[in-house]
Amino acid sequence: MTGRRKLIAGNWKMNGLKAQLGEVSAIGELAAGRPDIDVALFLPATLISAAAPLAGTVLVGGQDCHQEEAGAFTGCISAPMLLGAGAGGTLVGHSERRTYQHETNADVAAKAARASQHGLEVVLCVGETLDTREQGDEAAHGWVVDQLLASLPEGAGSGWLTIAYEPVWAIGTGKVATPAQIAAMHGALRDALVEALGADGQAMRILYGGSVSGDNAADILHLDNVDGALVGGASLSAAKFAPIIAAA
Ligand code: G3P
Repeated sequence: MTGRRKLIAGNWKMNGLKAQLGEVSAIGELAAGRPDIDVALFLPATLISAAAPLAGTVLVGGQDCHQEEAGAFTGCISAPMLLGAGAGGTLVGHSERRTYQHETNADVAAKAARASQHGLEVVLCVGETLDTREQGDEAAHGWVVDQLLASLPEGAGSGWLTIAYEPVWAIGTGKVATPAQIAAMHGALRDALVEALGADGQAMRILYGGSVSGDNAADILHLDNVDGALVGGASLSAAKFAPIIAAA
């Protein structure tokens, strides 16, 4: 027993209109049947206020959080805005934002710290590109550990911060990392967290993300140092999300 509660989280990315709110209610019912684990949905900002009352025990979150409290940042969303919409958490550092919005490790650390200052739970994403992976496992481990340590916010704590390892080459590709690759990377991340945070590094959850599905979830979710999953495509419908929650 690790003492870490499993977390099964869905990231809807830029998907979901009000017509999909029934999926939130259905996922809320799935979560109610599993009081032993945590379930979260990271939703487009436009859905949060309508989804929060439907989600039951599911943590409803945003998908970013600007590092500033407010200001001239067109198109961005702040921690107070997420809270006001009913969010209880947010994602930071997703590879799609690091790529398309050119977010740096320092940006990610500042976003996480700001979210935490407002009481939001945070899932902080790290992961290597295919080029890095092809340089070998050791190179990949070193690169992702460096990314994690450079993205860790001041005051990082297992009570509000969860790490998600998402190999970029496995996101949306159907090419899931092997159990051996996942276990080795999560072990390297765990060692880095313990060295950086002491005992709390042992308590901090590390999720795996990247083409998780009902077919592979059972092989992934019981590996050492895998404390849950961050799921994209398979979280968009309760029917596809159900076997992943069941495998936790
Ligand atoms: O944040 C989760 C996401 O990056 C994984 O996407 O579709 O490969 O499960 P997917």
